[in-house]
Amino acid sequence: MSGPLVVLVGPMGVGKSTVGQLLAERLGVTYRDTDDDIVAEQGRTIAEIFVDEGESAFRAVEKQAVHRALAEHDGVLALGGGSILDADTRALLAGRRVVYLSMDVEEAVKRTGLNAARPLLAVNPRKQWRELMEARRHLYEEVATAVVATDGRTPEEVTEIALDTLELKEA
Ligand code: S3P
Repeated sequence: MSGPLVVLVGPMGVGKSTVGQLLAERLGVTYRDTDDDIVAEQGRTIAEIFVDEGESAFRAVEKQAVHRALAEHDGVLALGGGSILDADTRALLAGRRVVYLSMDVEEAVKRTGLNAARPLLAVNPRKQWRELMEARRHLYEEVATAVVATDGRTPEEVTEIALDTLELKEA
């Protein structure tokens, strides 16, 4: 199947961009991030899109961006944390090499805290994280061909584990 060599999924703040860039470097391929695609295309931040148009409008834009990137990109692709909420997107991920970067709720709260740039966590982050992960954990697991726990690990360590798990030859 053509498309990305590796797709990264997982919640916001788990380190998809940092690990994705390290992974791409090690594999000698390019890195792409669907959140960046959306910001470039829309000329607005993700938070602005949420505020201006609401979450469901954002999800529609996100779905298009993810489907386009899956068709166009052949390197490492990181998907926005909520992309896997869409059933068509999950179906499109079937048969691909998908790594779920996971973290527990306490680690998530520690890493993201009260974060104005992340509209889903603007108030009461611990409760929101718990609910978010209860709703999404099984979806990340459903699309993943490998899971790498990031708790207490540096991005470099996570990258090494991902490379070992994927058994990909480095460039
Ligand atoms: C979201 C994750 C964010 C961004 C938006 C919504 C989510 O992406 O798309 O704030 O629903 O989990 P990152 O996972 O890249 O932070």
